[in-house]
Amino acid sequence: MTILHIDTSINGENSASRQITRSLVEQLKGSQWGEKVVYRDLAADPIPHLTLEQFADTSVLDEFFDADTIVIGAPMYNFTLPTQLKAWIDRIVIAGKTFQYGANGPEGLARGKRVIIAISRGGVYSEGSPAAALEHLETYLRGVFNFIGIEPEFVVAEGLAISPELREQAIGQALGETLRLAA
Ligand SMILES: Cc1cc2nc3c(=O)[nH]c(=O)nc-3n(C[C@H](O)[C@H](O)[C@H](O)COP(=O)(O)O)c2cc1C
Repeated sequence: MTILHIDTSINGENSASRQITRSLVEQLKGSQWGEKVVYRDLAADPIPHLTLEQFADTSVLDEFFDADTIVIGAPMYNFTLPTQLKAWIDRIVIAGKTFQYGANGPEGLARGKRVIIAISRGGVYSEGSPAAALEHLETYLRGVFNFIGIEPEFVVAEGLAISPELREQAIGQALGETLRLAA
């Protein structure tokens, strides 16, 4: 069993999502969810934006297929996902490989993988909040993983830019949530 650990934050050691994915992977490693960890830092080593030529390069898709558990750090940038993560998604959402259209419409072909996504947001976008309509990160990621046959699990740390106290509290809560997810 292999864990694919992906970070995307540009904030290095100050990143909340990196702290949360690290905690998750440390707990998951060696359990039923995976012995081996493959790490991809998409901020340090971005995948080029998609071109027709690059469709021929299946290395990112192969790495995705080889993984049983995928842990992704996803900070909110401009109401949605970092462009580095979108470039990765463009390499794994491939017709005939991870989805297909059948008699009943689209069908996900990547079933059976566990995907856990650590979301970090400066503001508050949870249901019922004034900015909820601008939340295009969690909703997008849920939609795109559902499309390929995966129900992702989320750990959310939000309101991180509101005050240092709220940041500490939100990260603490998210780290607590990782215990439940790894149990
Ligand atoms: C380029 C950029 C755009 C951002 N856009 C938003 C945003 O639209 N909404 C928001 O709540 N926070 C926004 N933030 C704040 C980040 O979501 C927040 O700092 C979060 O902690 C980043 O995750 P990290 O700590 O893992 O780097 C933005 C930060 C950056 C650097």
